[in-house]
Amino acid sequence: MKVLEHVLSWPKLILASDNNAGRNYDLWGQNGPFPTDGGNPVVNMGYWKEISVGEDHDLERASNALFELVARHAGFTAADRLVLDIGCGFGTMAILCAERFGLARVVGVNVSGVQVATGRHFIAKAELEDRVELLEAGATELPFADASVDKIVSVEAAFHFPTRERFFSEAARVLKPGGILSMVDLCAPPPEGLLQSLSLKMLRHALQIPADNIYAVPEYLRRMEGAGLELLETESLYLLTFPHFRRWVLRNVLRMLPHTNVFFALASGGYFFYPWDYVRIKARKPIAIPD
Ligand SMILES: C[S@@+](CC[C@H](N)C(=O)[O-])C[C@H]1O[C@@H](n2cnc3c(N)ncnc32)[C@H](O)[C@@H]1O
Repeated sequence: MKVLEHVLSWPKLILASDNNAGRNYDLWGQNGPFPTDGGNPVVNMGYWKEISVGEDHDLERASNALFELVARHAGFTAADRLVLDIGCGFGTMAILCAERFGLARVVGVNVSGVQVATGRHFIAKAELEDRVELLEAGATELPFADASVDKIVSVEAAFHFPTRERFFSEAARVLKPGGILSMVDLCAPPPEGLLQSLSLKMLRHALQIPADNIYAVPEYLRRMEGAGLELLETESLYLLTFPHFRRWVLRNVLRMLPHTNVFFALASGGYFFYPWDYVRIKARKPIAIPD
């Protein structure tokens, strides 16, 4: 009965009119959406610059490479007292920031209660409870005071936020002047033609993406600047993410079957055909607010 209830939770979520990304990730459970070989669960497509599909622990390593890329561009220093990871999954990036970059305090923020609870076990296992914390909270209402945060990182999560633009305003509010936002994100441009429109509609419902977050990269950057952030770097990582992850999915399709849900699989079937971009952005809260 419980299994049937779980199976039917998916169509209920997909057909609902409102977005609920937290529920989506709660339904994937403690192991996340992808089969992995041991380590922490993976919840992103990975950065495949130096990793090939088919190598040992390929997806986990590519996922860690993505975290390292975003962390490196954040430019952490010993002076950083508070770093946030927004849409933090199981806290793997927050743990990496503390372990690899010696940060004093990293707080991961996530709307998925299941991921937050599971991630807390990983933090305890790494003996990092004094430096890493996970909060069940939303990206658009960050429970932090104005100008209290040194750096924010976010990995493949902002496309879910209701809305991404509100998150930019929150980031601009909580960052200290000169504070850095380093992030990667999926960017879905508006659809062209009926097929893309239908496909996007299904993808938005399967993946829980608000309609307000559908715009192309130039508009993305314009909204970020409109929220009061100064753009420092942008690049497309499409070629180092999507084609490799697609190959990984094709190679692991049989292993994925027990992890996935038939309704989700049907609704997200057009994923690799939609003209997404995958952007890396580094932005700063200006030191002096311009007139
Ligand atoms: C694709 S996963 C990426 C997770 C993590 N950054 C990683 O790369 O492992 C997206 C994450 O964003 C979280 N999320 C979605 N909507 C959110 C919101 N409004 N506020 C905070 N987190 C959110 C999800 O629960 C999930 O953990």
